[in-house]
Amino acid sequence: MTKKAEIDWETLGFDYIKTDLRYISYWKDGAWDEGTLTEDNTIHIGEASPCLHYGQECFEGLKAYQTRNGEIQLFRVDQNAKRFKDSCERLLMPTIPEETFIAACIEVVKANEAYLPPYGTGGSLYIRPMMIGIGNSIAVKPATEYLFTVFCMPVGAYFKGGMTPVDFMVSDYDRAACNGTGQQKVGGNYAASLIAHDIAVKKGFADCIYLDPLTHTKIEEVGAANFFGITKDNRFITPISCSILPSITKYSLLYLAENVLGLEVSEEDVFIDELDGFAEAGACGTAAVITPIGGIHYHNRLHVFYSQTEVGPITRKLYDTLTNIQLGDIEAPEGWITKV
Ligand code: PLP
Ligand code: COI
Repeated sequence: MTKKAEIDWETLGFDYIKTDLRYISYWKDGAWDEGTLTEDNTIHIGEASPCLHYGQECFEGLKAYQTRNGEIQLFRVDQNAKRFKDSCERLLMPTIPEETFIAACIEVVKANEAYLPPYGTGGSLYIRPMMIGIGNSIAVKPATEYLFTVFCMPVGAYFKGGMTPVDFMVSDYDRAACNGTGQQKVGGNYAASLIAHDIAVKKGFADCIYLDPLTHTKIEEVGAANFFGITKDNRFITPISCSILPSITKYSLLYLAENVLGLEVSEEDVFIDELDGFAEAGACGTAAVITPIGGIHYHNRLHVFYSQTEVGPITRKLYDTLTNIQLGDIEAPEGWITKV
C-alpha cells in the first residue's frame, strides 16, 4: 500500500488541498487528445475564453473511499458520467465518453492514493471533473476549444460537524429556473447562489434553502444539496421540480429507504408552510452526505424538526446504510461500486 501523506485525517473539512497529479485533456478540431496526468495545478488559457466571460463550464463531484481491507472504490461514478454528459449537452460542449470519464477518475485516484483518507477516519477522496470552453472567441457562441480535467483532494465534513443537525434559512433569492440550467451542474448556478449562501452564513445558518422560482411556496434545494423529509407516518419524501439538480445521493436514498428500510417513498411537492408533517429532515449530496436539518428559518420563525442537537432514528439509519455501502462494509446494490 502507498505511504500516506502527512495529513490530519480526522480534522479534514472541505478546503482545497493540492494533490500530486491531475488528468487533463484538450478538445480541438472535433476531437479529444489522448489526455495525460500532470503535476501542474494551474491552467493557462486565452483571455477571451468563453468560460471566463459567458460561463461555458460544467463540473461533477464524486468520492473514492478506502475500505476496511484497504481496497479503493468509487460510488456510482457511472451516474456522474451520465449527468456530466447532460450538462455538456445543455451548454453545447463536446461530450466525454462515459468510459473515458470513468477511466480518468480511476487514474487520478490511483495517482493520488497517498491522499486517500484511511478507513475509519470519516474522510474520503473528493473527485472533481470539470470542462471549460477555451480558445479566444469573444462573441456569444460556443467555444472552439475545450479542456476537460479531473483533480482530487481529501475531504471530511462539508457542513461543520458532519452528522450533527444544523439550521438553514429560507432565501428570497432563486437558484435556478425550470427551462434554465437548474437540472445541470453548471458553474453559473453556483455563481448565482453565492449571495444567498453569504446572507445565510452571516446570519448564523449553515446555508440557505431555495424555494421554487415560480411560486416561492415549495422547497427546492438545501444549498448545494437536495432536501428530504421523513413524515410522521414514516414516509421518505423528497421534492420534485424541474429546477433542482438530480442528486445521485438522493436517488440512492430513495432506493435504500424503500428497499432496505422498507419505507414508502415519494418525489412530490414539499410546501414550505406544511413542514409540520415531517418528523425528521435532512440535506443529501456527495459533499453533504446526509446532514440532518435541525430547523428551518422562514418568516421570522424557526421550524424545528426532530431536534437541533440529536439525529432522528430514520436519518441515522439512512446515513449508516449509505455510508456502509460507500465504505464497502455492506453489499451495495448492483452497479453502485466501481473498484479502483
Ligand atoms: N444539489 C446541488 C445544487 C448540488 O450542487 C449537489 C452536489 O452535487 C447536489 C444537489 C447533490 O447531488 P449529488 O448527490 O449527486 O452529489
Ligand atoms: C457535491 O456535493 O459534489 C457538490 O458539488 C457540492 C458543492 C461542493 C458544490
